[in-house]
Amino acid sequence: MDATCRMSALVATSPPKILTNEDLVRLTDTTDEWIVSRTGIRRRHVLEDGKLPSDLTLDCSLRTLEASGVAASDLTHIVVATCTPEMLTPSSACILAGKMGAGNVAAFDIGAACTGFLYALYVCSGLLQREPEARMLLVCVEAISRRVNWTDRSTCVLFGDGAASCILEGASSPGGSGAVLEDVLCRSDGGQRHLITIGGGTGRGYGPGDAVGEDFFLHMQGRETYRHAVRQMVNVCEDILARNGLTVADVDVFVPHQANLRIIEAVGARLGIGGERVFVNVDRYGNTSAASIPLALHEAAEEGRIPSGSRVLVTAFGAGLTWGAALLKYA
Ligand code: ACO
Repeated sequence: MDATCRMSALVATSPPKILTNEDLVRLTDTTDEWIVSRTGIRRRHVLEDGKLPSDLTLDCSLRTLEASGVAASDLTHIVVATCTPEMLTPSSACILAGKMGAGNVAAFDIGAACTGFLYALYVCSGLLQREPEARMLLVCVEAISRRVNWTDRSTCVLFGDGAASCILEGASSPGGSGAVLEDVLCRSDGGQRHLITIGGGTGRGYGPGDAVGEDFFLHMQGRETYRHAVRQMVNVCEDILARNGLTVADVDVFVPHQANLRIIEAVGARLGIGGERVFVNVDRYGNTSAASIPLALHEAAEEGRIPSGSRVLVTAFGAGLTWGAALLKYA
């Protein structure tokens, strides 16, 4: 695929409140040993009471604008990837645009759960082929702690909140910093949609004052999801490498969706990518869904793990089911 899209000024925001595994032991019937051995997670950031997801998106977006030298008025598109939107409507993108004072932009959300960043790259790079002069703000945000059932130990220990944002523009636009999107592949299997759900939509009627049902919260069939996640992330990585005439030897850094250390290690082992080439931060953030990959890319770059000229393979898997992979070449 022709490279048409460049990502730059990637920054991340995590809410200051941290829940450690020891904190969770006080909330639910679990142990630090179980969480670490099954998932690799040690702590996660969660949105404080009274704070909004748009507080996170505004914070990282303003820092992306500052880092890029782009003014809010220069933006043509604001795209937010999330599966925990602040409201059913207006979109999280319109809420952010309003708070930023960005007028006349195309603003919309993308709902592909943990694969949201990759679906957003897919959509935005397509739009950049149609409008090469566009200058887009992409924000990935989740506040899953607001929809976790804190009495369900099999899910509440897994997730964290966070946001990350970047500028997407034509690959030939001046500047040349950041990473060029070499290719992106997105897939889904709605036949498995029951495996991970968060309700609260219009599938069920509510009246004022009604109590919400259990379906309002996140449900996941973990073991079955795990099986699909490993198989599909391996398949899609192999497919994107093959269609670009590459092998794993051409990958300098592998940044998989940070859901579970065992999944990351299983995918890496099956692909034949291990050790220093694999970036992991799930221990400190848990699964931040759509924000997971950009948050990890940001942190990997900050730690000097992505030297200039690196090719980065990213892959994600989430509710839908959705999954995908992308190749990024860093300037
Ligand atoms: N503490 C202690 N015990 C627990 C906990 C806990 N927090 N959670 C579950 N257990 C128990 C279970 O009750 C079960 O006990 P039992 O054998 O007596 O019934 C036992 O541990 C094993 O439970 P499993 O669910 O089979 O554990 P598993 O090893 O499969 O690990 C996990 C669960 C971590 C959820 C794993 O299956 C997983 O990571 N799945 C994939 C998650 C994922 O990738 N999601 C994708 C994206 S999410 C999105 O899109 C929003």
